[in-house]
Amino acid sequence: MKYIKYLGGFLLLTIICLPLLSQTKERWKDVNNEYINAHGGGVLFHNGLYYWFGEHRPENGFTTEVGVNCYASSDLQNWTHKGVALAVSEEPGSDIERGCIMERPKVIYNKKTGKFVMWFHLELKGQGYGPARAAVAVSDKPEGPYRFVRSGRVNPGIYPENMPEADRKLTWNMKKYKKWWTPEWYKAVNQGLFVKRDIEGGQMSRDMTLFVDDDGKAYHIYSSEENLTLHIAELTDDYLQHSGRYIRIFPGGHNEAPALFKKDNMYWMITSGCTGWDPNEARMFSASSIGGPWKQHPNPCRGQNSEKTFGGQSTFVLELPENRFI
Ligand code: GAL
Repeated sequence: MKYIKYLGGFLLLTIICLPLLSQTKERWKDVNNEYINAHGGGVLFHNGLYYWFGEHRPENGFTTEVGVNCYASSDLQNWTHKGVALAVSEEPGSDIERGCIMERPKVIYNKKTGKFVMWFHLELKGQGYGPARAAVAVSDKPEGPYRFVRSGRVNPGIYPENMPEADRKLTWNMKKYKKWWTPEWYKAVNQGLFVKRDIEGGQMSRDMTLFVDDDGKAYHIYSSEENLTLHIAELTDDYLQHSGRYIRIFPGGHNEAPALFKKDNMYWMITSGCTGWDPNEARMFSASSIGGPWKQHPNPCRGQNSEKTFGGQSTFVLELPENRFI
């Protein structure tokens, strides 16, 4: 379902995940009177049209049987289904084989290459939420079809820029930290227990968003380290890879569903806590530089049911282009 709320000239578009639909009364339909099936998505404005990309979710279960759906609209209210922008593969063993899990797709436009670049959270077929991969696909047209490029963990072999030299040298006995949330465990997480565990294969990447800054640099923001810590990773100029530069923020803060935007030279981020498919209280952060330091603010939602994000969860903040309104 949808929640559209104004936020100081910005539009906060929260598209919540399917299992929460049962708690809502109304479902949004497209111009053909079909239910919009585009969860955890994001919106791209291109040549006068809004393109909404989201997870196609089946009636039952959590696996992806169709792919990433795309809808287009000129007024953000009436949406036309443009088809499946990135379809699952029928090829056994493909990273995006039918039955995998594709979540939180976001598309950005690369002015230099003229390509549309989609990143999403990918779990390989039959492996639950263990792989925790980031995946990328590319297209010449906003609505697709997108060509799958690759998936994997993020920045293997590379430490976050804001991880102190001393912490990089630490070695951990993972067996000692089986019990979570103890003071020793918190300290270890803070010092990069999971960064170190995953350094060779790359960092975990689940709930995610993309952000393009005014200088054209793009960032991938994702829940890493077992969903305990957010990472902000710079992409290469073509947006198809990670550049190797990244930071971690709020270690052990358990943030997911990141949605980032910039207003008056400040970076703002809305996230949620981690309670699976159940809604929780939204969180809000700001920074004057994307590389931090980031500061936490109180819950940005107000009014009835605001402590549960109105039954939803953040996924994307859409800035309305100048002189456009709905
Ligand atoms: C949620 C997350 C969703 C999905 C789900 C799986 O907390 O926001 O994107 O990953 O967990 O349980």
